[in-house]
Amino acid sequence: MTQAQAIVFDLYGTLYDVHSVVQRCNAAYPGQGMQISELWRQKQLEYTWLRSLMGQYVPFEQATDDALVYTCRRLGLDLDPATRAALCEAYLKLDPYPEVPAALQQLNELGLPLAILSNGSVFSIDSVVRHSGLQHHFAHLLSVERAGVFKPDFRVYTLACQALGLAPGQILFVSSNAWDAAGARHFGFEVCWVNRRGNTFDELGVTPHTVAGGLDEVPALFRTAGVNSAHRAG
Ligand code: LAC
Repeated sequence: MTQAQAIVFDLYGTLYDVHSVVQRCNAAYPGQGMQISELWRQKQLEYTWLRSLMGQYVPFEQATDDALVYTCRRLGLDLDPATRAALCEAYLKLDPYPEVPAALQQLNELGLPLAILSNGSVFSIDSVVRHSGLQHHFAHLLSVERAGVFKPDFRVYTLACQALGLAPGQILFVSSNAWDAAGARHFGFEVCWVNRRGNTFDELGVTPHTVAGGLDEVPALFRTAGVNSAHRAG
């Protein structure tokens, strides 16, 4: 059970499947779609962390594009300008995980404000959310852009408190990215880690308050009675 007064979601990998791009990658490079997508996402994340450590900020689209260029060079793939543009465009049209629309609807019915807090730029977040038609669920779409640094820098998590007018402990932060969940926990949010694939939580000195197998388990955290399918984690 949670007493949270708002829910803040991570976007990439939590609400939306970054591997939605596999099909487009396969169309350009048959049979290599998943390998490209996995390396691309890993490098994209590394580039956000590294830019932050260097005291630099680039828009998320830049990190995504840089990571794609690296991925193709590393795998020895020729990346022509049209393919590069088409694959980066695919990152603006990711699919939500199948259970997400219904779960957001249920969470909306609780009457709590829902928000997204993402490393994406305002443009990227808006594109992804609007493309999926889920924008009406959210009171706030919050980008790191305003902080000029990427998650897990604490200044990013502060943006959610400012937008919602709540203290960290009054916010349930939901992320599938263990490093993000750990950053949010250190910041002081109540944290639910969505672990769809049996991943291992990172060793960063904290554990999430709850672990859910999918977004459909999050509404149960707010129920006073009935079956709570998400379990408390240490
Ligand atoms: C986000 C990435 C980090 O949406 O998943 O912030």
